[in-house]
Amino acid sequence: MSVASLFQPFSLKSITLKNRFVMAPMTRSFSPGGIPTDDVAAYYRRRAEGDVGLILSEGTVVNRVASSNDPNVPHFYGEAALQGWKKVIDSVRDAGGLMAPQIWHMGVINPHASGWLPAEPFEGPSGLLRADGKGGREMSLADIEATIQAFADSAAAAKSLGFQAIELHGAHGYLIDQFFWDVTNQRTDRFGGKTLPERNRFAIEVVKAVRQAIGPDCPLILRLSQWKPGAFDYKLAQTPQEMEAWLQPLADAGIDVFHCSQRRFWEPEFSDSDLNFAGWAKKVTGRPTITVGSIGLSGEFIKSFRGENSTPQPIDELVRRFDRGDFDLVAVGRALLSDSQWVRKIKEGRTAELTGFQSSDLRQLQ
Ligand SMILES: Cc1cc2nc3c(=O)[nH]c(=O)nc-3n(C[C@H](O)[C@H](O)[C@H](O)COP(=O)(O)O)c2cc1C
Repeated sequence: MSVASLFQPFSLKSITLKNRFVMAPMTRSFSPGGIPTDDVAAYYRRRAEGDVGLILSEGTVVNRVASSNDPNVPHFYGEAALQGWKKVIDSVRDAGGLMAPQIWHMGVINPHASGWLPAEPFEGPSGLLRADGKGGREMSLADIEATIQAFADSAAAAKSLGFQAIELHGAHGYLIDQFFWDVTNQRTDRFGGKTLPERNRFAIEVVKAVRQAIGPDCPLILRLSQWKPGAFDYKLAQTPQEMEAWLQPLADAGIDVFHCSQRRFWEPEFSDSDLNFAGWAKKVTGRPTITVGSIGLSGEFIKSFRGENSTPQPIDELVRRFDRGDFDLVAVGRALLSDSQWVRKIKEGRTAELTGFQSSDLRQLQ
């Protein structure tokens, strides 16, 4: 099957991607004290040299004392960390690449396996860790205001360092997603409510503040997942109408692209249609979307944390859906974590050279 359509350029506001491949954001925990090292810069540069159309950084946290549970996850604030990020974007740009940081607040989360803890308790809409009960403290209105500002400050810093786009992490059960989910958001003020449109308020305010901070021309991507950790079949929006009521206000607030996280991109979102999450998000908002999930690999990513390896797989089904117009961009995670040349190999039909993913690849920045 021809992959040529995936190698057509894509224009998004101020930038033009050379192809439709996006590096998915992947936490690597190689930034001691929150500061990206030269090795981190070289790792991303290799993906730019490997012709990735747009590189999304690993999640990088905002300036809140308890925004992270891991001292080796990079910060997107503070002089030293921003200097580190400057080296990253300079090396990526030097290699002709485009890059967006994925701006993140973990919210209420389990402590890291190392036992490291931030100086203050984890914070979230109701202090709840998923369905498991208390795991942190409930944010006050002042905490919420300061957190919205912290997202805007990181986005503004990214733009001034030279990053060409911004992604907000609104997926996978972290802070923004904790506001979406009724299990973790039991607030009775204007940031809570019985319906998803009511629980959308925090994300909408973050998006508006970020849009204000970066101006109208800088592409702004929002990553979302219907699934939650430990609740993989959960759907925030159970119908296309509910999805539209969730996403359209976010588009109106300033989102240019929805990045629709699935573990397997081919799984249909609703019955009676084979459209996936990215397909529906595009259909109901008219905005461009990014799909993701086991592209080019046999297994899905959660199992990779428990040691599962994946073998290379054909991408025919991806091409079929892309050519049908379901989505505009495709994010590739583990295949690119393991092989910086994955996009080139796909372009040149060098499938015999694809190496798949070994869970041991997580131990270094290859
Ligand atoms: C090591 C690792 C770290 C990840 N960290 C993040 C992250 O920081 N932010 C995020 O949104 N997703 C994260 N993900 C999920 C990926 O972005 C992607 O959605 C997932 O791996 C599925 O794509 P794949 O099957 O191509 O690997 C991570 C995945 C892996 C394997």
